Amino acid sequence: MRHGALITWWAAERRDLPWRRTHDPWLVLVSEVMLQQTQVERVLPYFESFVERWPTPQRCAEAALSEVLAAWQGLGYPRRARNLRRTATLITQRHGGEVPSGLDDLGDLPGIGPYTARAVQAFAFGIDTGVVDTNVGRILARWTGHRLTASQAQRIADELVPAGEGWSWNQAMMDLGNRICTKRTPRCRDCPVRKWCAWAGSQGPDPADRSAGVSTRQAPYEGSDRQARGRLLAALSECEIGRAHAAAAMDLEHDEIRVQRLVSELIAEGLITADGDQLRLG
Ligand code: ADE
Repeated sequence: MRHGALITWWAAERRDLPWRRTHDPWLVLVSEVMLQQTQVERVLPYFESFVERWPTPQRCAEAALSEVLAAWQGLGYPRRARNLRRTATLITQRHGGEVPSGLDDLGDLPGIGPYTARAVQAFAFGIDTGVVDTNVGRILARWTGHRLTASQAQRIADELVPAGEGWSWNQAMMDLGNRICTKRTPRCRDCPVRKWCAWAGSQGPDPADRSAGVSTRQAPYEGSDRQARGRLLAALSECEIGRAHAAAAMDLEHDEIRVQRLVSELIAEGLITADGDQLRLG
């Protein structure tokens, strides 16, 4: 079989991950939202406790936002938690509590972009669609030898999925990207599908650089707005605090203007609320 080399490699090398032991669409959806911007190892404990606590969209929709945000504490990008709870509410209201399987229905949910929608289709519903995350985007660029646009990458990814193998093919691609076709120093000599690759063994520039779906380097965390926001949310997941103490919680005592801006943004995004001078989560 044309695709056999990857599937054979994967059968021996696959990572055993909790979201691969289920096809429950809500669990798959939660895992994919967590994995959007966070490494597998960091996601594992959060995933297990989240789905134990909120095993269905309805249960998550019933939770207070502050509880969901507190459970997300330390995972980063807390807008994902807010969106996930909104998504749980919409699934309950619009779809009778069942995660939809259509691309448009999934894409209409907050925090579910084209990547996550396809990941849910493939990993929960076994639909033969190409899932292009940053790993897969990199692999496709290298295989073709070209920097790709998003629509090119999606078309190629869709064409490659062997009929009926949407689940295993996409999981295998992710593991290939994680284990072999890594961003820096890819292990081409160990690659089971080296013969498919235009770039392996060539001395040319990496076609994955700035190709569609391939993440660019993250801005430094130290000193960033993200860090200061994270500090305030961490403090608020312990207890409410007065506005006057926000600067200390953010470690920004010298920069009151920035503190006010960050607090206003967090309120506007629905991550915290102000009740008089008191700030609280949710
Ligand atoms: N990243 C996103 N989805 C994944 C999955 N199903 N397995 C491993 N890493 C992932």
